Amino acid sequence: MRLSARISYNKQVFIDCNKNITPAYAVNLSLLGLKIKDSLPDCLSSEIIVMMELDQDVSLRGRILRNEKSEQVILFKEDPEVISSTVGKYLTSKIYKSGKCPFCSRPIENHEKYCRKCGVLFDYTRPEIVRFIQDFKIGKFFYDVLTEYPDEVKENLQDNTEFVGVSKEIKQVFNLIRKYATNEYPVLITGETGTGKELTARAIHERSSRRDKPFVAVNCAAIPENLLESELFGYEKGAFTGAHKRKIGKIEYANGGTLFLDEIGDMPLNMQVKLLRFLEDLSFTRVGGNEAIYADVRIIAATNIDLEKAVEEGKFREDLYYRLNVLTINLPPLRERRDDILVLAKYFLNKYSREVGKKIKGFSKDAEEALLSYQWPGNVRELINVIRKAIVLTENSVIREKDLDLKRNGLGDVYCVKTDSLNLKENVERLEKDLLQKAFIRTGGNISKMAKLLGISRPKVYSLIKKHKIGEITD
Ligand SMILES: Nc1ncnc2c1ncn2[C@@H]1O[C@H](COP(=O)(O)OP(=O)(O)OP(=O)(O)O)[C@@H](O)[C@H]1O
Ligand SMILES: [Mg+2]
Repeated sequence: MRLSARISYNKQVFIDCNKNITPAYAVNLSLLGLKIKDSLPDCLSSEIIVMMELDQDVSLRGRILRNEKSEQVILFKEDPEVISSTVGKYLTSKIYKSGKCPFCSRPIENHEKYCRKCGVLFDYTRPEIVRFIQDFKIGKFFYDVLTEYPDEVKENLQDNTEFVGVSKEIKQVFNLIRKYATNEYPVLITGETGTGKELTARAIHERSSRRDKPFVAVNCAAIPENLLESELFGYEKGAFTGAHKRKIGKIEYANGGTLFLDEIGDMPLNMQVKLLRFLEDLSFTRVGGNEAIYADVRIIAATNIDLEKAVEEGKFREDLYYRLNVLTINLPPLRERRDDILVLAKYFLNKYSREVGKKIKGFSKDAEEALLSYQWPGNVRELINVIRKAIVLTENSVIREKDLDLKRNGLGDVYCVKTDSLNLKENVERLEKDLLQKAFIRTGGNISKMAKLLGISRPKVYSLIKKHKIGEITD
């Protein structure tokens, strides 16, 4: 079995065998050959020529591999240079046009060269790739492809080395950060714990014209209610017992820069009134003072609670909500941008293993699989903690699943039933396909290993791959 994408071709081809030309109907086409519906000519020569239509008419040398009632197959006998510029080019354009990985169905973004989920290559226009596939060193193939395109994985690091991500969702966030950085309106950042709200606020500040001025963060949930006012606005000497000298508040510190109000949803109602007043004209008085002070700050606020609901429940002032909710960024949880998981994991592995002076090459397949199927309730922060712990625990040069010590949440997403259908057959079919794809991803497409994992024979793996059309390009 040689794994390359194939496509339903369904066109007539002509087979030239010693100048006898026979038409035949080809059902599908891959880099390696054609599957034919009609029985093939009894050809004595070991070489035939197949004439077929791709983007243009081509003639390719081949040989009849199988000519049985159940299956007729023609193998191409051309050099990789010829195959890549004909069939390879055709398949590649079809893959990109279909918009998803033919093996694991993950959406393809921006003409990426290989699938970030299962490692399969999409671009068959290069002879060396065709040679790999012809040699069928599938393990080598995946390895070479992944080591050949390490830059792809780093593509989003260029702008800001701290902010990593390749998913469609995080790219939208990057876009908003760039847009919002150029104006002065307040920004409201929402998202679950650990999704990168503070990182986003800093990224906006660093790209704004205020970047040379301070970025001051105040955690509204961590400061006791009675201290929050003086923390924000400062106080005058003698304002209260213990106020021995004047103290400048965070707002004044942030003058010219950005004030980041973290966990704004937890700000007490009386402070919300005072903040709103400040936002009216950016002036305030220190606690115990009379002098009106003006501070030129841009406000970025963040919360992990549903502010709209808090407004409904009377816990958050509606007028403040509208004041802050001018420009918004919602950071999706990590489980909703799975394309970022391995990229982030590799980034943190690299960063933190260097920190402790350990040389760790990467993750084993089962570790990658575990990282991908985990739900990450604590998001990126949890991922960081898991990786740091694994770096300490591992005694190997790769991180394995058991080093990750992940709490398995049920049996993973594979086993969930589509709630809108309880049809047993439909769900069993879906489960079968899901498990097959998972095994494919985990083993990098190694049929023997897949058979072992799935507990079935190799022929059964082949037949299931065929049945579920794994690797078949669909429009
Ligand atoms: N895309 C990312 N790339 C690199 N590091 C990230 C990314 N997202 C988050 N982090 C890191 O994850 C950690 C948590 O991020 P951050 O503190 O910004 O999250 P948060 O949403 O403010 O969390 P919380 O709600 O718990 O305060 C930080 O160390 C941050 O640097
Ligand atoms: Mg935070």
